[in-house]
Parts: sequence; structure tokens; C-alpha cells
Amino acid sequence: MNFLISIIVTIILVAFGGNFIKKHDNFCYLLTTLLSILLVIGSYTGVIWTMSPWFTSTILPILIKNAFATAIFVIVMYTGAFKNGGKLIKFLMPIRAQLSIIACILTLAHNISFGKYYFVSLFTAPKTIPTNMKAAAVVSIILIVIMIPLFITSFPSVRKSMKPKTWKKLQRNAYLFYGLIYLHVMLIMIPLAFTGNSTYIINVVIYSIVFLTYAIMRVNKYMIKKSSVKLRQVV
Ligand code: HEM
Repeated sequence: MNFLISIIVTIILVAFGGNFIKKHDNFCYLLTTLLSILLVIGSYTGVIWTMSPWFTSTILPILIKNAFATAIFVIVMYTGAFKNGGKLIKFLMPIRAQLSIIACILTLAHNISFGKYYFVSLFTAPKTIPTNMKAAAVVSIILIVIMIPLFITSFPSVRKSMKPKTWKKLQRNAYLFYGLIYLHVMLIMIPLAFTGNSTYIINVVIYSIVFLTYAIMRVNKYMIKKSSVKLRQVV
């Protein structure tokens, strides 16, 4: 449910705050960085878990488990899958990089907070964590390695300093990144869903619908583009 709620909240935030994000991008990065620092400090000291039960059962899981950041990545993903020239792509394209930067900053907080236990266990006491969580942690290492260059090169100043071809080639790694997010989540959630836990069953269904629909839409857009190029070559 964290993910479904995050998607709804993100759509509302982007619909009403899209122009604000575009105009005040640095302010949004600063605010997100502060939030991420607070989450990391709070999780390392354990303070966040002592806060009000309402907060720890609603807002905190959405932020710390990365459901909210992933919902922002989903908007970034779908922007590339919508029809060129359409209203949605016109509205979202100018804030795509900003949304991506915000999602990356929030994801760093998830990495540091969860990495504290899982990375330390993975390298010092691998037997103490179940196989699926080991695999999810390994996938998360690849995720971080892909995300950092995507994050840095999303800043317009860095993008401008790069050759457009190099930038485009690097940004193609985003497809692998999205695929690995889905794998990371499935590795964690499928075993829990099989125990009959309804929350995780719903999560598996929602993540699958969102990520698989995206894959179909993106492949479809690619095929349409490819066939129109071929047609132009013939004419
Ligand atoms: C770029 C890196 C990462 C991304 C994009 C990512 C994304 C996600 C997402 C989307 C979820 C599901 C959240 C939900 O719907 O409740 C999740 C859960 C989780 N992630 Fe990550 N993650 C990343 C890195 C990491 C790292 C480095 C670790 C630790 C080694 C980690 C450990 C976990 C754990 C343990 C959960 C399950 C939380 C729970 O349900 O209790 N993740 N991650």
C-alpha cells in the first residue's frame, strides 16, 4: 500500500507543484537533502522509531522504505513512455531532470539507512540474512552504482559539459535501473507474499502492474518510432 499511496501523493504533488519545482529547483533539492539527512540521522540514532505511532506507521515507511522516491522515479519513467507531442509529455519533460534529482536524493537516505544493517551483515555475517535479502542487497549495490552517474549527470550544468551523445548513452542505463528496482522489490516481497501476507500480495500486484505496463508502453513507443523511420526511408 505504501507504493500506491506514494503514487497518488506524487501525482497530486507534481500536478499542483510542477511549476514550483521548475522555478525553485535548488530550493526543492535543499529541502529534500535536509529531509534525507534527518531520516539518516534519525534511523542511525533510532530516534525516528520513538516518534508518534501515527508518524511511524504512515509517513515514515513511505519515506524510509523508498516507496515515495520510487513513485517519483515512476513519473520520470512514464514521461519517456508517453506519446511524443502529447499534453502529459509537454508538462512533464521540463521537470523530468528535477524529479529525478529529488528521487535520487531521497533514495540515498534509503540506501544509507537500510545499508547500515544489510551491507554490514552481507559482508560480516552473510548467514544471518535470508538468501532473498542477500540477493536484494547485491542488486541494490548495482542500483547504487548505476544511480550515482545518472544522478550527477541529471544536473543541467553537468549535462551541458558533456557531449550530447555520451550523455544520452549514459542515460540509457536508466532502463536497467528501472528493471533492477523491480527485481530488488520482488526479491524482497515475493517470499513474504507467499506466506499469505496480504500487504505484500497487494504490493507485488501494484509494483508489477506499474512496472510491466511501463515496459509494454516503452517497447510499443520504440516499435512505433522504428517503423516510422523505416517508412520514411522507403518513401
Ligand atoms: C538505488 C537503490 C535502491 C532503490 C531504488 C530501492 C528501492 C526500494 C523500494 C521501491 C522498496 C519497496 C518499498 C515499499 O513499497 O515498501 C525497497 C524496499 C527495501 N529496500 Fe531498497 N532500494 C535501494 C537500495 C537499497 C539498499 C542499499 C538496501 C540495503 C542493503 C535496501 C534494502 C531494502 C529493504 C530491506 C527493503 C524492504 C523494506 C520493508 O518492506 O520492510 N534497498 N527498496
